Amino acid sequence: EKGTYPHYMLKEMDEQPGVVRKIIQQYTNDAGELIVDEAILTALKNADRLYIIAAGTSYHAGLVGKQYFEKLACIPVEVHISSEFGYNIPLLSEKPLFIFISQSGETADSRQVLVKVKKMGHPTLTITNVAGSTLSREADYTLLLHAGPEIAVASTKAYIAQLAVLAIAAYVTGKSKGNQIDFDLKTELAIAANAIQSIVDSKEELHKISKEYLETTRNAFFIGRNIDYYVSLEGALKLKEISYIQAEGFAGGELKHGTIALIEKGTPVFALVTQEPVALNIRGNVKEVVTRGANACVISMEGLDEHDDRLVIPKVHQLLTPMVSVVPLQFISYYAALDRGCDVDKPRNLAKSVTVE
Ligand code: F6R
Repeated sequence: EKGTYPHYMLKEMDEQPGVVRKIIQQYTNDAGELIVDEAILTALKNADRLYIIAAGTSYHAGLVGKQYFEKLACIPVEVHISSEFGYNIPLLSEKPLFIFISQSGETADSRQVLVKVKKMGHPTLTITNVAGSTLSREADYTLLLHAGPEIAVASTKAYIAQLAVLAIAAYVTGKSKGNQIDFDLKTELAIAANAIQSIVDSKEELHKISKEYLETTRNAFFIGRNIDYYVSLEGALKLKEISYIQAEGFAGGELKHGTIALIEKGTPVFALVTQEPVALNIRGNVKEVVTRGANACVISMEGLDEHDDRLVIPKVHQLLTPMVSVVPLQFISYYAALDRGCDVDKPRNLAKSVTVE
């Protein structure tokens, strides 16, 4: 129930710090260590390549998940959009493990791939919010998101949960393989939960930012580099699906290869600066768009901030920044939709679970 909340989306965004804490709890054993089910750990360790299959926001989580598995578990990963995979199956490795990420566990595009790869005899793992969902029942293994029911069509807390569960699975696999990992994920996730809380608590400021940049615009751009690029894709999806503002997420470096032609006086550009190694490059991109008249909103992370950044998010581990930097983008989208009188929880033409291919 949404109780006193005007929208499920607002309630679900507010729940995000609690979701991260719940996941830490659910994936911790009696000795206080992060764990995943033994059988799943074995399947992950036996795989020579992971194929992540998902749609929409879950696909965006998969892009981040690739970095987790490659950096922490040292397993190569491919991420595919489920609707494309079926008729364009890449050359597979010898021992693939297919990972389906789906909040609902009912997405037909993803199920169609699951059926196909099962027939080929490959092992399958579903990461879902819904125990007993089709994708969960039909896969060999399931990791649950524990995010609680997500009712708003726009996915928010499930994305955060997907990132947390992917991080845990990758971390536990890496540790168990004896990989050199120089941080404690449990501690870092708890820090991220607090950081998310501080953003949730600043929603009035985020409403202001939304008005400042999006009140009258017909389009908007989101840019980032490295892991920030994936978050910019998610930020753009959130904005377009609920506010109907045309929005695009771009890799900062790609701007000059075409997109920059679209920048005019007043065009809003949201730029994420959370990755130290590319901070100067993305700031360079911000200068390029500002020179062409863009209304740039820089969202940076503490330690990488400069005096005229519009929003500074608390410092978290370099791999966990998406869980935090996406939150202001969710709120900014929510307020843009609200101020335009859109039906926030039930945007036009969209269904919560897409059960047709
Ligand atoms: C975006 C959104 C959709 C879903 C997509 C996959 O906010 O909700 O893009 O992420 O339809 O749905 P699931 O995760 O249920 O497979």
